Amino acid sequence: MDNKLIDIGLGILQSPTKGRYKTMQINGKKHYRFLNNLYLPCKTDLLSKEQVIITNRFREKNFKIDSQFEYNVKIKEIFKFILSKFNNPSVLEIGAGRFPLINKKDDYTIVDIDKEIKTYLLENNQHCILEEELNTLKSKHYDICIACFVCHFCISPKAIESYKNILKDDGIIIFNVITHDSNIKTNILSEFTSKYGFVGKSLNMDKFYKKSDTIFFLTKDKQNPNFTHLVSETNKFIEKSL
Ligand SMILES: C[S@@+](CC[C@H](N)C(=O)[O-])C[C@H]1O[C@@H](n2cnc3c(N)ncnc32)[C@H](O)[C@@H]1O
Repeated sequence: MDNKLIDIGLGILQSPTKGRYKTMQINGKKHYRFLNNLYLPCKTDLLSKEQVIITNRFREKNFKIDSQFEYNVKIKEIFKFILSKFNNPSVLEIGAGRFPLINKKDDYTIVDIDKEIKTYLLENNQHCILEEELNTLKSKHYDICIACFVCHFCISPKAIESYKNILKDDGIIIFNVITHDSNIKTNILSEFTSKYGFVGKSLNMDKFYKKSDTIFFLTKDKQNPNFTHLVSETNKFIEKSL
């Protein structure tokens, strides 16, 4: 192994400076650059929960100096714009980490896989549950499920089924998938569309920000009158803020 790389846990390697290569053979195994300074031993959707937690601990500490930070802020602005288009919606935010999109306390639930995040958010008066507690949420209750910089990680089929169940019939789910690997995007999209009959639209962020990122808007209700309008309003919002 390159002796400048440090194993920060479970095979996740930290480079002292921005990694030069998108992928690298290390000890005969392909590694994938993640953020500026990490090399992952597999693609993001194959990381175990424990590995995801290690990468996110690293991200929390180093994110403001990472080149993805500015872009993350832009996507959060877009997602906040989307939330602002609803009148007092019930929201489930998937994977907020320490940075929920808004500090709404009523009818704003966060789900994460990380116990430390749950404790932190509960201490900060936000309602947070763990992924394995999704079955405690009311079915057909939520207007929106939203996930910001989460769905490049593995979202289990069981969790996807829960998201389908807790959404109202005219509810929508919105998430971005930032990755160079189109299979990761196709897999999560087909889980919602082919298995659960969601339909939707996508906005390719390459067009706006030159990022391999796509925002997906999905709904169960093919006739949902507000849906197409929301996507086109979002498109306009992005174009205006460029
Ligand atoms: C990259 S951080 C994004 C945090 C925040 N949304 C942001 O944009 O700054 C990913 C967060 O999603 C959580 N996460 C990862 N996989 C998840 C899953 N399958 N379900 C729920 N949360 C998940 C991680 O624990 C972490 O808190």
